[in-house]
Amino acid sequence: MTGIEGKSPKLRVAVLVSGGGTNLQALIDRSVKGDLNAEIVAVASDRGDAYGLVRAARAGIPHHVVDYGSILKGHGIGASAEAGPVDLVELDAAQKILRIADTATRLERLRRLVCAEQQLIGVLDRHEPDLICLAGFMRLISPYFIRHYNRDNAWRILNIHPALLPAFPGQHGYEDTFSHGCRWGGITVHFVDEGEDTGPVIAQAVYPVWPDDSLETIRRRGLSLEYEIYAQCIRWLAAGQVHVDTTSPRPKTIITDSNYPDILESWTIKAFQDRSRKAE
Ligand code: GRF
Repeated sequence: MTGIEGKSPKLRVAVLVSGGGTNLQALIDRSVKGDLNAEIVAVASDRGDAYGLVRAARAGIPHHVVDYGSILKGHGIGASAEAGPVDLVELDAAQKILRIADTATRLERLRRLVCAEQQLIGVLDRHEPDLICLAGFMRLISPYFIRHYNRDNAWRILNIHPALLPAFPGQHGYEDTFSHGCRWGGITVHFVDEGEDTGPVIAQAVYPVWPDDSLETIRRRGLSLEYEIYAQCIRWLAAGQVHVDTTSPRPKTIITDSNYPDILESWTIKAFQDRSRKAE
């Protein structure tokens, strides 16, 4: 189970962004049209200049900034300040993302990250979100944040990643796809776990990479798929159609939507559309 049981009237979604926020915009547009079965109740960013915040403001959505840059430099948190009632050593043992060899340095980094996450959780929880959607949020997420939302065996954090995971995790999905000369690129929406882009996959879509493509043309093709696939995953969640099977060694999702094959086909057709327009 996901912990999200197809709530009525609408799923309450908080979106985290660091940049332009075109995925956020796509979700806002669908939500406004009543095409999402979800309401975007808050937007938060790790930086004040994220254009996604402007998009939120225009849509009248509450939006917040937690200045990760300054918190990670240690500003605003005392040198001896605790990151709340947190066992950093235990968190460090659980985390898989901070790869700093020196333990003291790593623990200090983790302490600051957790301080930022406590502030983020503080602003998000005012809006009582059912689901947290990462949409170009370029910060590490520690087990502290994940456990807060994935409590009671639920999965409440989604991420969209611009590659066909497990290929090309990290921050450069389009660049990696292009520079490796891949013939197909992909998009993955997955639940967030404690690894880097390793959580259970909910949906994937692929697009062709043509010989005359550039990084920019594949990014454009991929992004237009991102908007479809992210919205669809939220619809499935809102409808209670995403289940997580934890009986296998790796948790796997099961989608119980009888239209699933048609939806997959529609994504593939869309991925070919800009090629056919070129040929016209
Ligand atoms: C998208 O490519 C998304 O897959 C990745 O970050 C990018 C965000 O783009 N995680 P935007 O800010 O939504 O335009």
